[in-house]
Amino acid sequence: MSSAAADFARAADPVQVFREGARDANGQPIEPAPWQVEVMRSEARRHLILCSRQAGKSTTIGAKAAHGLVYRPGLYLVIAPTLRQSRLLFKKASAVYRNLADVPRIVKDNETELELENGSQLVALPGDNDANIRGFSAPRAVYVDEAARVVDSVYAALRPMLAASPDGQMIALTTPYGRRGWFYEAYEFGKGWERTKITARDVPHISEEYLAEERDGMSEWQFRAEFLCEFTDTSESFFSSELIDAMIDNTIEVWE
Ligand SMILES: Nc1ncnc2c1ncn2[C@@H]1O[C@H](COP(=O)(O)OP(=O)(O)OP(=O)(O)O)[C@@H](O)[C@H]1O
Ligand SMILES: [Mg+2]
Repeated sequence: MSSAAADFARAADPVQVFREGARDANGQPIEPAPWQVEVMRSEARRHLILCSRQAGKSTTIGAKAAHGLVYRPGLYLVIAPTLRQSRLLFKKASAVYRNLADVPRIVKDNETELELENGSQLVALPGDNDANIRGFSAPRAVYVDEAARVVDSVYAALRPMLAASPDGQMIALTTPYGRRGWFYEAYEFGKGWERTKITARDVPHISEEYLAEERDGMSEWQFRAEFLCEFTDTSESFFSSELIDAMIDNTIEVWE
């Protein structure tokens, strides 16, 4: 394909960016799973994706961000629970970008910022401190990885930023983290969100053997949260801590 034709194909279909730029742990190109194709093409302005561990969440956000940087110039924010995790995600996005042929030149490149000659900017933000995320205006997109672990105050700081950006997209991908927090509330009760649920069974590269091993290595409630995407709570363990507390009678004298 000529480079103009390749560019046209990429512009028309973000999935081409995934195919061209995303790599597995061995550096090999990967074929996106159906759910990844759906997320790459999603134009939903507010999208919550409840997703199994190891499904390819970060890889997908990385490719999605890279496509936006080229074809919809503007500000792209990536957020994860800590700056360290945001940086990992940022690196995935910039790695996808660097694997693309014939894209705008990089004019600034440091640990948390990538700037292109078309004016696009990719910024990694810490999801543990709302003070550090204020001051950005009108992002084209905000991608939140492990969103259920991003604290409520950070989500609250993102909302006005997005409100000021009518075309701005927000996609939050996460494994569940109990029945608490903004992601849980939005997923269960929120209005105006598109919702997608991807359990380990929907992920072609997660094998039954891998799942069986993981199931052996963790508690039942943890497995149901991490791989089956249930908003389980530790309190659903056989004896909840409340029950155990109630069973301990502090009035009984101890014989010594
Ligand atoms: N479509 C795919 N086909 C094969 N392998 C894939 C695919 N998508 C992602 N992977 C691989 O799966 C592994 C996990 O990917 P990634 O880190 O993006 O997932 P994740 O859902 O963010 O994981 P975690 O739950 O650990 O954060 C990586 O080695 C990645 O290269
Ligand atoms: Mg991840």
